[in-house]
Amino acid sequence: MSKILVTGGCGYIGSHTLVDLIDNGFEVVSIDNLINASENILDGVKAITGKTVQNYHIDLCDKAATRAVFQAHPDIAGIIHFAALKYVGESVEQPLRYFRNNLDSLLNILECMLEFGVKNIIFSSSCSVYGNATELPVTESTPFQNAESPYARTKQMGEHILQDFCFQEKNTNAVILRYFNPAGAHESTLIGEAATAATNLVPVITETAAGKRASMTVFGADYPTRDGSCVRDYIHVMDLANAHTKAIQYLLANRQESNCETFNLGIGEGVTVLEAIKAFEEVASQKLNYVIGPRRAGDVIAIYANNNRATARLGWLAKRGISDIMRTAWEWEQKR
Ligand code: WQD
Repeated sequence: MSKILVTGGCGYIGSHTLVDLIDNGFEVVSIDNLINASENILDGVKAITGKTVQNYHIDLCDKAATRAVFQAHPDIAGIIHFAALKYVGESVEQPLRYFRNNLDSLLNILECMLEFGVKNIIFSSSCSVYGNATELPVTESTPFQNAESPYARTKQMGEHILQDFCFQEKNTNAVILRYFNPAGAHESTLIGEAATAATNLVPVITETAAGKRASMTVFGADYPTRDGSCVRDYIHVMDLANAHTKAIQYLLANRQESNCETFNLGIGEGVTVLEAIKAFEEVASQKLNYVIGPRRAGDVIAIYANNNRATARLGWLAKRGISDIMRTAWEWEQKR
């Protein structure tokens, strides 16, 4: 049973990936500093899988503490590196904190991989590396435009660090996964998106529907899109989780074309904000209280994925659409 070290394992995508890895026969261990997460989510992971997952409550920017985890687990077959600060707006206000945290943690992980002979890493990247893409759908070779935020910039820089590291270290194998818009919750509603101050569309919708917000604002309906609101590629978090399992299996089976490969993880369909709201209203059988407001700074007009490489190389297929996202997100919200 191969052991996978999951950084950010108590986070939203990390916890759902723990479930999918365990369901597929992997042993897992987590590192999470709990700055944006709680270890309580591991109770949900145990309720779903029956497995108790150990979390090391340490900061990956602390090199000594990070080394100690690698020393305690000489049998790590691969790393999935989720841990990062990820709020776009916060990154604009605190750029140095974001560069320090997101880059130092990656550099410490890579140095430990060299020291302890860990060969495989999956890096959590984001469609925000594309900026305002010049072509749609974006493929993995669509050139980066200017990053819209320091957060997106840390993902662009993280990818370049990995590419240069893998060019030098031929025994290291890396997969870079560019997430589009993750949303939804595990079918059991035993785990879901954490209850921090939501800024992403889907949790804002469900909090509004649950009466936790008086209303929500659609940030702009005057864009050059089919209904004037922005287009995104919403991917169910369990489909995203399974892509990580498929990527680890791809690395462990040595099926790579090169030792640093990139894959888009979106479902390949664009959905507008107003269409997402309509999908929610149909699933919840209730009207959502929203107003149309001004555009939000930093928003790209439209982005969605060409995900053919992930299907062709990883054998990954998204099984869920926007209605599944809204149904599971709503069930999770009502249970919270
Ligand atoms: C989606 C659409 C908003 C809230 C960000 C990061 C990306 C990834 C996912 C980390 C936009 C609109 C939203 C609201 C709205 N994060 N919206 N009213 O900005 O596409 O992506 O989160 O990896 O890297 O950039 O996601 O959910 O914030 O916005 O109208 O109250 O919903 O304008 O068009 P985004 P989002």
